[in-house]
Amino acid sequence: MEFGVWTKGLATLAVDCLVLGVFEEAQLGAQGGSVDAASGGRLRKLLARGDFAGRAGETLLVAELPGITATHVLLTGMGPAKQLQRRTWRKAWSAAANALARTRIASCAVALDRPDGKELDDYYLGRAVAELTGAALYRINDLKTARKPPPPGLKKVLAGPVRRAAAAERGLAHGEAVAAAQTVQRDLANLPGNICTPSYLAEQARALARRHASLRVRVLDEAAIRREKMGCLLAVAQGSHQPPRFIVLEYQAAKKSPPIVLVGKGVTFDSGGISLKDPPGMDEMKFDMSGAAAVLAALTLAAQLRLPLHLVGLIAAVENMPGGRAVKPGDIVTSASGQTVEILNTDAEGRLILSDALHYARRFHPAAVVDVATLTGACVVALGHHHSGLMGNDPGLVHELLEAGVRADDRCWQLPLTEEYAEQLKSYFADFANIGGRDGGAITAATFLGKFTQGLKWAHLDIAGTAYQSGAAKGSTGRPTPLLADFLLKRAAR
Ligand code: BES
Ligand code: MN
Ligand code: ZN
Repeated sequence: MEFGVWTKGLATLAVDCLVLGVFEEAQLGAQGGSVDAASGGRLRKLLARGDFAGRAGETLLVAELPGITATHVLLTGMGPAKQLQRRTWRKAWSAAANALARTRIASCAVALDRPDGKELDDYYLGRAVAELTGAALYRINDLKTARKPPPPGLKKVLAGPVRRAAAAERGLAHGEAVAAAQTVQRDLANLPGNICTPSYLAEQARALARRHASLRVRVLDEAAIRREKMGCLLAVAQGSHQPPRFIVLEYQAAKKSPPIVLVGKGVTFDSGGISLKDPPGMDEMKFDMSGAAAVLAALTLAAQLRLPLHLVGLIAAVENMPGGRAVKPGDIVTSASGQTVEILNTDAEGRLILSDALHYARRFHPAAVVDVATLTGACVVALGHHHSGLMGNDPGLVHELLEAGVRADDRCWQLPLTEEYAEQLKSYFADFANIGGRDGGAITAATFLGKFTQGLKWAHLDIAGTAYQSGAAKGSTGRPTPLLADFLLKRAAR
């Protein structure tokens, strides 16, 4: 894929297709207006016939306009002109890129009118163009045996209009890296649980480290995990025939500075264990390693862009299964931190494996710890599928992640994490229980994690509602990789 910027002369630009925005009520913006003038008013004539109203998400491909070098013009709906924002702009280009991916068009110039300066600057324009092109060209790595349709023909995309080309070009390069990282996450998360096992995740981490000299990897097998006294992680793993893996990836470009530690939930299949889940939709629990995949994706991005950072990725990889050896409701285990946990529900396994991973993070004396997990159905009930849940013990870090999500259009929403919720985790027999009842389930899960992060600057992203889609378009969304990427890019710049 080739990315660049166009500067002037849309009418004579040597590309196959110009992508123009149309506002609601069929209004052409400034860019479309210039092309319309060069074509002797043909675009306005077309719009006057009522063929295209400019509603967000709609596109219309037009061929052979007189006076225009490009053979095609693709119109994309921008919604009401007064409501033009970063998100509507992104939606319009995303719809156009998806339409282009269904054609044989090989090159295009993006020429949508832009919201004013701060809302979408040159850098984020470039980011959005490259990132959304990557998303539109993504093909799911299915295991269908029928011949695959030919890949999309799009090879070259020029972004514009830009004020400072250098900033846009940097955005394009970063956006391309974000898209590549999202592909890493999506490909891994889309794999079925019989292929993507804990050992497979470890193998992928090793392969990643082989590709980048700046990455080092260490994989703890079951014996090594036992030596670390990760009793919670082992309790989850013990019902499965798949052995657990604890993966430690380190990226060190900045010299000995306290690292950012990213922790990923890598449950390669979550049956619920003895507290077995209902059958409908259980297949989707292959996506329960999306947090782990996002951590691998974030380290890939850092290595690819050579970000001046010190990063550690920790992945707790297990399969949660019922069986004669599986952990049972009422069992009490000792976590690596020494605290005891009564496992009242074996389906609340994510917090168990994360607790040992978060404790492991302490040895790095981290500047910040962020865990990423498809942790609770309660978070999906609370926030639906648009925002990830965000909680933490450090207001600065929480604010940073909220802002990163807005900039990356991969948003999260903060839920409270005050001390009252700890009440719900009380246990008769151990230091605390692993569930806190139905009410505030996303928060009590984070409260549980908070027992292991005291003294650390820590934030938790619950991505249960955002990491994958159900239904007809079932599959990984690649979130929250754009958010994590933005967070890291901003840290790298500071
Ligand atoms: N992996 C699930 C959470 C989940 C649910 C992710 C739906 C995506 C969609 C997690 O391990 C789980 O089972 N959580 C339980 C916790 C409960 C037993 C306290 C849940 O949310 O029901
Ligand atoms: Mn579960
Ligand atoms: Zn789970």
